[in-house]
Amino acid sequence: MKIGSLKINHPLCLAPMQDVTDQAFRLICKKLGADIVYTEFTSSEAIIRNVPRAIRKIKITDAERPIGIQIVGNNIPALTEAVRISDKFKPDIIDINCGCWTKRHALRGEGAGLLKDIPLLERIIKALVKATKTPITVKTRLGWDKNDIVILDLAQMVEQSGAKALTVHCRTRTQKYKGKADWSWLTKIKKKISIPLIGNGDVVSVEDVQAMFSTGCDGVMIGRAAVSNPWIFQQARHFMKTAENMPPPGLPEKIKLCIEHLKLSVKYRGETEGVIIFRKFYSGYLRGFSGVAKLRGELMLFKQTAPIIKKLEELI
Ligand SMILES: Cc1cc2nc3c(=O)[nH]c(=O)nc-3n(C[C@H](O)[C@H](O)[C@H](O)COP(=O)(O)O)c2cc1C
Repeated sequence: MKIGSLKINHPLCLAPMQDVTDQAFRLICKKLGADIVYTEFTSSEAIIRNVPRAIRKIKITDAERPIGIQIVGNNIPALTEAVRISDKFKPDIIDINCGCWTKRHALRGEGAGLLKDIPLLERIIKALVKATKTPITVKTRLGWDKNDIVILDLAQMVEQSGAKALTVHCRTRTQKYKGKADWSWLTKIKKKISIPLIGNGDVVSVEDVQAMFSTGCDGVMIGRAAVSNPWIFQQARHFMKTAENMPPPGLPEKIKLCIEHLKLSVKYRGETEGVIIFRKFYSGYLRGFSGVAKLRGELMLFKQTAPIIKKLEELI
């Protein structure tokens, strides 16, 4: 698969996820075999207003490459300026979010709201492609609802407008996360475009990764399953090479990674925020071990790293 100068065969991508795919988690997934990672979406308006939280979101490091910065918005001058600012961090990709379903974004005409105004999306893509040498890509859904599936025409428009790749979460906006992602669309979309197609939605196992590739898509993007099992990237790569399952990580390995991830979270966010934002990861790292619910409850009460690490190390 080729996006600009980026060439990767059958890439496994970490999905952009708000309040999840921060620098710490991206580095963890990178270490465990994610080929491309993305920042969580950042509002173009917040970027151009220099809001510190927004600028922190688009700050990337060389260790995370290749990496895409994802931005959300629908105002062409604001998006263009946000791209110019994002370019200072030299991302490998700038991705336009056309899939966010939340009322806050979609009902304001951005994120999945752009599925309701495809001519505007076309003008946005063309303007951004013109504004930067960084490859512009698009991440979207099948359409607004099941009666308004636009992905086949949209995919062609995205390619013709100069975008270098398309990622499709195979649900509609009204589905949010309900129902099942319909991967059969990936085969149909692939027939319409020659830019890389990255499939997304409900990939939870190594078998799913292989099944999604067999639809004909060029890359596979994994979101929620990576939160509970960041090893999924190396497990999937191993499975695709050998047709065998890697042994799952044992408790010591899980705890070691959990501690490493926690320390990174604190490194990039400071002690209190780093510890609090990390809480969503305990259930994934500790899943399957006895007494987890009680331990998780205890860990949730701490606001400092030291007692958490002590508790975790006691487990090994
Ligand atoms: C907590 C959370 C935050 C998300 N934030 C973003 C985001 O910032 N940008 C985006 O394009 N999609 C976002 N998504 C959607 C995911 O990127 C992905 O499309 C979706 O979760 C389906 O993939 P999965 O089944 O592998 O999780 C988010 C999803 C979740 C669960």
